[in-house]
Amino acid sequence: MEFKQHIKEVENWPKEGISFKDITSLMQNGPAYKQSVDALIDYARKQDADVIAGPEARGFVVGCPAAYAMEIGFVPVRKEGKLPRETVRVEYGLEYGKDVLTMHHDAIQPGQRVVILDDLLATGGTIEATIKMIEQLGGTVAGIGFLIELDGLGGREKLEGYDILSLIRYA
Ligand code: PRP
Repeated sequence: MEFKQHIKEVENWPKEGISFKDITSLMQNGPAYKQSVDALIDYARKQDADVIAGPEARGFVVGCPAAYAMEIGFVPVRKEGKLPRETVRVEYGLEYGKDVLTMHHDAIQPGQRVVILDDLLATGGTIEATIKMIEQLGGTVAGIGFLIELDGLGGREKLEGYDILSLIRYA
């Protein structure tokens, strides 16, 4: 299936000059949603994942169904102030802003192979922060899967040395 046709491009949102890639149109289409998540599941299996991690909120859209189907755990990566127990935290830069991501301190067991799934790679700041926390907790990042990769924003370069799969690319 050609997944790109199911993504809606919204110009000048949320800011002038940004061409937002809306995945809700893909999610609304049952076969497109299922087949795209299935492709990420195939990847996570190939990378021998013990656990899936996904940044809020759209990382949950792909990460949770993948973990459920694989019968492995899902680790939510959340913005500061959302997780109730002791956390590790990392500041990161967004395509349009700055924020803090957190993860529960016991979310990853040392030696676990973690596959990170998210909807979109732009500058790579979100995933770089996620990798830092996983490695701080002793996990190994076995791979990173995206629905969408935006070229030209430095994301792939920032994640050099890590295995990356993206289903859809925009130049
Ligand atoms: C978006 C997107 C990715 C991230 C990509 O999430 O879902 O997680 O930005 O950008 P980057 O590669 O430049 O870090 P956002 O922080 O907007 O959160 P949301 O999913 O809750 O809207």
